[in-house]
Amino acid sequence: MILHWIRAILVLAATGLRVVLDTDLGDDIDDTWALSALLQTPTVELRLVVADSFGAWSHACAVAKFLRLAGRSSQVPELAIGPQRVGRTVMETWATAQDLKAFPGQVRSDAPQAIIEQVQAAARDDVPLQILVLSPSFALAAALREAPWIAQKAQITAMGGSLWHGTNGTGPPLAEWSVKADVASSLEVYPHVSRLCPLDVAGTAQIDGAEFQELLNCQGQVPVVKALLEMYWAWLPRCPWRSPLDGPKGPADHARSSVIYDLAAATMLPVYSSEFMELREVNLTIDSQGFTHPDGRGGWPMVAGVSWRRQMEWEKTVVQLLCTRGAAAKVIL
Ligand SMILES: *[C@@H]1O[C@H](CO)[C@@H](O)[C@H](O)[C@H]1NC(C)=O
Ligand SMILES: *[C@@H]1O[C@H](CO)[C@@H](O)[C@H](O)[C@H]1NC(C)=O
Repeated sequence: MILHWIRAILVLAATGLRVVLDTDLGDDIDDTWALSALLQTPTVELRLVVADSFGAWSHACAVAKFLRLAGRSSQVPELAIGPQRVGRTVMETWATAQDLKAFPGQVRSDAPQAIIEQVQAAARDDVPLQILVLSPSFALAAALREAPWIAQKAQITAMGGSLWHGTNGTGPPLAEWSVKADVASSLEVYPHVSRLCPLDVAGTAQIDGAEFQELLNCQGQVPVVKALLEMYWAWLPRCPWRSPLDGPKGPADHARSSVIYDLAAATMLPVYSSEFMELREVNLTIDSQGFTHPDGRGGWPMVAGVSWRRQMEWEKTVVQLLCTRGAAAKVIL
């Protein structure tokens, strides 16, 4: 354990990881958990947030408001609005045009170009770049069409699909939303995914008990956690979907998170431990209905989380990370 820590600290001290986040924050609350974890990880350099999916403009408003609530008034990432600008979102009455107008950083409407420029910059500076995809990915698909070479210069980690299991991590595989909502974009993006967090693992990610209590306790000192919980309370009565609200640990409420799929995916980034999940190499295909098949002929090779190995440790670790930014390098193995 101790050796693990020392190695982790040395590795993390040497490099910060540049991250581009492709998100539909403002629909399900899990993106907000993922963004919070990134903000609390000193070795993550969040360069660009792409508000993607349907209703990208509304998602951008939600990102802007969340970052403000989280206390980010400077050193904010760029914010880019994806191509499907118009559409309803769950949190559309929570965040407004005013939030976007007040965003202290650059707001761009050319998301594919913003992605390409980040990859160009990382290639020029010869540093790694991760694109974390937590959303139907119109913008990233467009970027890949425009500049196919970016797939060689950036790594893609995605939450999506359902390999052997679906809802609750136990039900049969289903056509998972991010893939199904935009199969055409998924067919362009998934050939380049290197790490996948499907429902098999993501579908059981939930925090309750002493860990949730710790978040309640630390929110007074930690603006990111305060903002996260504030948005969560606002989201709970608005959420129209049963699966995130009715997780394996019990219903989402004031002492328990909903199913936080995207937080599981975020912690697959290489700045965190790879010990939490059982990983397996798969050859992925996507059919026209948006189902993902792990051993399809001619499939795209990638590493997928298929089950949990140390889920309790994962919960404790992410809560510690959220509550203690500076300690991240020590708690993340
Ligand atoms: C998930 O599992 C829990 C515990 O067994 C159950 O109460 C809940 O209804 C399930 N959720 C869904 C969406 O099936
Ligand atoms: C994936 O496909 C390649 C090439 O067809 C094959 O060699 C490999 O064994 C497959 N891997 C898995 C995990 O199915």
